[in-house]
Amino acid sequence: MFSKNGIKFYRRTDVKLTLWYILTFFISVLIIFGFLYLRLKHQLIREIDRILHDEADELSHIVSHDLKGAGIIKDFESGVTVRTYYPIYFRVLQADGSLFYISKNFSEIPYNPRDKTMPNLKEGDESLEEVRSPGRRRTFRMIHYPLYKEGRLAYVIQVATHTRFVRKSLSDFRGNLLAAFPIVLVLGSLGGWVLARRSLAPVGYIASKVRSFTSNNLDERLATRGTDDEMDHLIQTVNEMIARLENSFKRIAEFTADASHELKTPICALKGEAEVLLSKKRPAEEYQEGLAHFIERFDHLTRMINDLILLSKFDSSQGELNMASLRLDLLVRDIGNLFEILAEQKGIDLQMGRVQEVTIMGDKVRLQQLFTNLIDNAIKYTSEGSIRITVEKDEENAVVQVVDTGIGIPHEEQEKIFKRFYRVDKSRSKESGGVGLGLSIAEWIAKAHQGRIEVNSELNRGSTFTVYLPTLKG
Ligand SMILES: Nc1ncnc2c1ncn2[C@@H]1O[C@H](COP(=O)(O)OP(=O)(O)OP(=O)(O)O)[C@@H](O)[C@H]1O
Ligand SMILES: [Mg+2]
Repeated sequence: MFSKNGIKFYRRTDVKLTLWYILTFFISVLIIFGFLYLRLKHQLIREIDRILHDEADELSHIVSHDLKGAGIIKDFESGVTVRTYYPIYFRVLQADGSLFYISKNFSEIPYNPRDKTMPNLKEGDESLEEVRSPGRRRTFRMIHYPLYKEGRLAYVIQVATHTRFVRKSLSDFRGNLLAAFPIVLVLGSLGGWVLARRSLAPVGYIASKVRSFTSNNLDERLATRGTDDEMDHLIQTVNEMIARLENSFKRIAEFTADASHELKTPICALKGEAEVLLSKKRPAEEYQEGLAHFIERFDHLTRMINDLILLSKFDSSQGELNMASLRLDLLVRDIGNLFEILAEQKGIDLQMGRVQEVTIMGDKVRLQQLFTNLIDNAIKYTSEGSIRITVEKDEENAVVQVVDTGIGIPHEEQEKIFKRFYRVDKSRSKESGGVGLGLSIAEWIAKAHQGRIEVNSELNRGSTFTVYLPTLKG
């Protein structure tokens, strides 16, 4: 209860959320209760004021019609002073401040400074005030009501009643609120706790599930709850991350298996050939021939190992590029020139087509490798015909094309040739010494430059490899 998953109680998010909830709930309840209390008080006082006003009105009617003598004021007095809830006490003063009439019990109302000086009330004005007994035990509400005759102040009528029932009603209401307060608070806090626990429950699930992942169970996924809320989105994101990890793991495993297989085959073959060579005595030329063949095979193996090292560098962060602005047209032309002799030896006509001046940001060594691999393939997979290399640019990219008239690639294979160790027809690259890594390396380099390679080929007609690399802006 006090610590979950090794997290201290006071650090737990559900505890913090609940405490915040209780605090805001407490303040809100306090404000609402305070508001209700003040509103009730205001309403009760307004009710009393209305009664006082009505009585003062009636009394003013009696006084203004000089009905004192007729005993009507007495009747009025006996009617209002005996009321149970709001008994009315009143006093009528003349303009000079002398007493005109005082009702029973009016003397209960404590001394009022207004008694000495006549209140300065205009016609139609009336003032209401609260009067407290000296011991502050009783409070009264009193209205001062001026009565004007022919434009001059003739009387001031004072009507009062005690506010005992208001105070009682308010104190009852306060009692009820105080009784309800702890119940509301406890229920609210419980609600807050349940809410915090419920909304954070998936976090515990995600943590425990993610902790259980190893390289052996990367095919498992976290279960979403179908609520399509933030937690479900988080679970989906974690699932996507695990899928990416699974993919990388698979690729590494496949690559390792392929690499060891590709290395094992030529080494076994070499061993076999050496055994055959040693199986009987041979003339010195045969040994020489055999060893020369071995050196050729070793060259091939060295190239393969170098390519493997390069690819594993690409996969780790060591495959970083040394970017600099460079003239791609010059770079491609240099490589084209280098391969011209090799092509010539094979009887292939290698020519530079249209070459436009274009500058890009790139890693010179890597780009040399990219185009070397493409032109090497073009020569390797063309037995007769020609190879044409062009460098152009469109709005965004430098576009380099290597077009050959070679054996071509079947349609269904064209996507796969960029995979590591993939060779279209193993027999055809075997004789030409292909490992199946050249295009993977080329594609990686293009992607690392935010570019891409496209292939367009027809079997027995030739292939066109097009490289797009973003040009330098400005
Ligand atoms: N210009 C091309 N014409 C026809 N086939 C091609 C061409 N370029 C590539 N291919 C096919 O795509 C396959 C993959 O090419 P990639 O360059 O990756 O490997 P490779 O040339 O066999 O070996 P490596 O380049 O590693 O020595 C090749 O085996 C070949 O069958
Ligand atoms: Mg190749």
